[in-house]
Amino acid sequence: MTDIKLQARNVDVYYGQKKAIDNVSIDIDNGLVTAFIGPSGCGKSTFLRSLNRMNDTIADARVTGEILLDGEDIYAASMDPVALRARVGMVFQKPNPFPKSIYENIAYGPRIHGLAQGKADMDVIVEKSLTQAGLWNEVKDRLNDPGTALSGGQQQRLCIARAVAVSPEVILMDEPCSALDPIATARIEELIDDLRQTYAIVIVTHSMQQAARVSQRTAFFHLGVMVEYGETSEIFTNPREARTKDYITGRYG
Ligand SMILES: Nc1ncnc2c1ncn2[C@@H]1O[C@H](COP(=O)(O)OP(=O)(O)O)[C@@H](O)[C@H]1O
Ligand SMILES: [Mg+2]
Repeated sequence: MTDIKLQARNVDVYYGQKKAIDNVSIDIDNGLVTAFIGPSGCGKSTFLRSLNRMNDTIADARVTGEILLDGEDIYAASMDPVALRARVGMVFQKPNPFPKSIYENIAYGPRIHGLAQGKADMDVIVEKSLTQAGLWNEVKDRLNDPGTALSGGQQQRLCIARAVAVSPEVILMDEPCSALDPIATARIEELIDDLRQTYAIVIVTHSMQQAARVSQRTAFFHLGVMVEYGETSEIFTNPREARTKDYITGRYG
């Protein structure tokens, strides 16, 4: 049985006159990790950003078609993009903690969204979020240290904790390990597998090995088109499309 969280229908994304995403339709399920793979410049990040209206923040970007979150059109006039981005959180390529304490990095979102009744309540949210991101034991004795004093891998887990703190439904990750060493990468990959029990996860990765390790569904993009989408094991062992096969066998990068 499928449990669809996000549906994209005939989505195009333009930068000015240039079409960067061409007629993409995809269903993204709860409880699974969905990977977007494809060569650099094929539109993975552009399409990912359309799923929480992050493209709104790019002056000449325009999205057409429909994207539904639990059946609700995220581009409807009634949808508040700030509230939407709490429901559909995002983790970026380069860890980007706020220039504030570890505690404040987590508390900021719940505070602006009114999720905590007071300090004790906020303390609970901070501990729970850091625990979910696998960071609590490493930072519990130094919550007032700046977030930027952490290692790269810890900073990325802090950013995941920050996304988790506002109780999202979906977490979008755009190459979250590309700035990390192999050990930090392995920790994030384990974390992704834990988090999918609670959140639908979409991860952009240029690493096919990573897609194979962390995802259950894979979408292959090429030149702005979604060429093929299916079970990760099928995409990597038995792709239907010649272009997918060429990519996974390394014919182009
Ligand atoms: N802010 C932007 N303004 C104009 N063009 C952009 C912008 N961001 C991306 N593009 C273009 O859109 C296409 C898709 O880019 P992107 O989504 O970043 O690909 P990927 O994440 O797969 O590497 C590329 O041709 C890229 O140059
Ligand atoms: Mg990208």
